[in-house]
Amino acid sequence: MKIKTGIDGLDEMLEGGIPAGHSIAIIGSFGTGKTTFAMQYIWEGLINGEKCIFLSLEEDEDSIIETASTFGWDFGKYLDEQLLLIKLEPEDAGNSVKRLEGEIPQVIRDFEASRIAIDSVSLITMLFENEEDKRMNLFALSKSIKESGATAVFTAEVDPKNPTVSRDALIEYVVDGVILLTPIEQQNRIMLTLKILKMRRTKHSREVKPYEITSSGLVVLAQSDIF
Ligand SMILES: Nc1ncnc2c1ncn2[C@@H]1O[C@H](COP(=O)(O)OP(=O)(O)OP(=O)(O)O)[C@@H](O)[C@H]1O
Ligand SMILES: [Mg+2]
Repeated sequence: MKIKTGIDGLDEMLEGGIPAGHSIAIIGSFGTGKTTFAMQYIWEGLINGEKCIFLSLEEDEDSIIETASTFGWDFGKYLDEQLLLIKLEPEDAGNSVKRLEGEIPQVIRDFEASRIAIDSVSLITMLFENEEDKRMNLFALSKSIKESGATAVFTAEVDPKNPTVSRDALIEYVVDGVILLTPIEQQNRIMLTLKILKMRRTKHSREVKPYEITSSGLVVLAQSDIF
């Protein structure tokens, strides 16, 4: 079974969507639409009657609802029954770590969501000081999501020194699929491009495709080529 991302053009590139139960990483630099991607994925679930969890380290509950509404997605209407919004405070690492290790896996088990979005794992790993703790906690979070049966989207920032991998170069090894968002300059204009680097159990497209962020979310121009 395939889970549609709800992003036009991308679902075709994925032969229908993300294999159910898989988790994928959306990796890109600032402003490439990672948060929009995650929200659009959740919105697609909500309008299909699915239960969804959106875990954010960037925006609190009101701000998430406000941002989603700018794309015409009424998250507020689905709150509590179908949608769970969780905010972790990057500036309060102690408390956030406590919640990640305790209450959150429990909430993920109990809510029985079919979709989970985590925005962003780069801010999660920043809560931990050493590599081992970053790795262990990312694996633990991913494990509790897998066990819940949900299909997950993790956003991650690129490493500024090597913008083809995530900042910690960890999430790529945790997930079943990786989509890389790259801005390129062409004729004095920044063009956003997307490519699927890995997607287990899928005969996915390997082409680089342009995409746009529009007032109704991301649209991949699957018919266009980059020259
Ligand atoms: N309503 C809209 N219509 C068109 N484009 C928009 C709209 N809202 C936002 N954008 C574009 O999307 C960009 C922000 O997208 P988003 O927040 O999803 O990116 P991000 O990758 O999560 O960024 P960050 O790394 O800062 O969290 C804006 O910089 C703007 O270019
Ligand atoms: Mg963001």
